[in-house]
Amino acid sequence: MLTPLFTVVSHSPAETEKAGEHLADKLRGGEILSLLGELGSGKTTFVKGLARALGVNPREVVSPSFVIYSVYKGAHLELYHVDLYRLEKMDHQLELEVFEAAHNGAVVAVEWAERSPDIINLSKYIIKFEAPSEDKRIVKVEEQQP
Ligand SMILES: Nc1ncnc2c1ncn2[C@@H]1O[C@H](COP(=O)(O)OP(=O)(O)OP(=O)(O)O)[C@@H](O)[C@H]1O
Ligand SMILES: [Mg+2]
Repeated sequence: MLTPLFTVVSHSPAETEKAGEHLADKLRGGEILSLLGELGSGKTTFVKGLARALGVNPREVVSPSFVIYSVYKGAHLELYHVDLYRLEKMDHQLELEVFEAAHNGAVVAVEWAERSPDIINLSKYIIKFEAPSEDKRIVKVEEQQP
């Protein structure tokens, strides 16, 4: 079951980052976040805000497409930034690493989670991104009850 938490209509990357910062207030560690939405819809931008709020320099956060995931040390929590875009078919080893990282108390943000129904199912937060025009982004944050 999904419960809507908040929706942001963003007119700049900074506003999209703010949405990530806002969600970070709720995180205690151990959460998986599924980021869903088309190319360029603001997922990485949102993760930069999340990172800043967790005490990671957001400039360190770049698209992890070529490495599948990056791990950042925050002030209190580790942040895993995963991007499944380049994965042709789901890699079960990688799924296990995602579940284990969350089990060990990390915050795990997964771009292109569409590629892994299991990751979506085990996510505490589902974040849906839309890009209705060049500068406008809609970010919908929902909480998932198991
Ligand atoms: N309101 C906005 N919020 C976020 N990004 C915006 C906004 N307006 C324009 N942009 C631009 O859109 C692009 C969004 O990129 P971002 O990398 O966050 O998307 P993404 O969903 O991670 O894409 P990908 O699917 O390729 O990983 C950036 O170049 C950013 O500057
Ligand atoms: Mg991205």
